[in-house]
Amino acid sequence: MVVPAALSSWRSLALLAVLLIGGGATFIYSRDKPAESTRRPDAARLMNDLMSGKAQVGGPFTLEDQFGKRRSLADFRGKPVLLYFGYTFCPDVCPTDLAAMAQAIRTLDAAGRVLQPIFITLDPERDTREILRNYAVAFHPRFVALRGSEGEVRRVATAYKVYFEKVRPPGSSVYLIDHMAFVFLLDRDGRYIAFFPPGTTAERMAVMVGEALAQRGLAAPPPPRALRLT
Ligand code: NI
Repeated sequence: MVVPAALSSWRSLALLAVLLIGGGATFIYSRDKPAESTRRPDAARLMNDLMSGKAQVGGPFTLEDQFGKRRSLADFRGKPVLLYFGYTFCPDVCPTDLAAMAQAIRTLDAAGRVLQPIFITLDPERDTREILRNYAVAFHPRFVALRGSEGEVRRVATAYKVYFEKVRPPGSSVYLIDHMAFVFLLDRDGRYIAFFPPGTTAERMAVMVGEALAQRGLAAPPPPRALRLT
């Protein structure tokens, strides 16, 4: 399958932005990639909102899970949440990140057992309940996979500053979804704590999640590295 350059460019852009933001560099998106269409400013604005740490990120949602049940973020109160937006046809980025989330949960062991992994599809047209049911458990048995109408999904994604758009590679009969791929960590009241850029390894995610939870008294501090079983 042909992967449009845009898919990998989000990834490198996000990583670059994360690297630069620590140095106080201004957001370089517009210089790096001249606006190609009206969608580009939207994408840049959302990413800037997320990277700047100044905008409100996240919020409540209610969508349908892989068993057809309506699920609200509030249903998971008491559990920190690892949240990801993607789509099951995604050729590489989504599976890699979902596998990292699942592995991080396993690595965290006891602390991982309180974590709730949630996947929200950006492609409700193709991602039926049945497809989501099979897809989610392939990564972790406790994954909750959610879908909604195009409008519902757009609202939730935008609240989390996730830009996405259908793209059709030239000559292809199938579309892909160009999307920002961040893993979000929410506290046990559903409030946004942090995001991890695409490509964050399971090991790094486990360490960062473990520390974030320990800081909030939600988990025991992670053991010294030498004592950790992997
Ligand atoms: Ni993807």
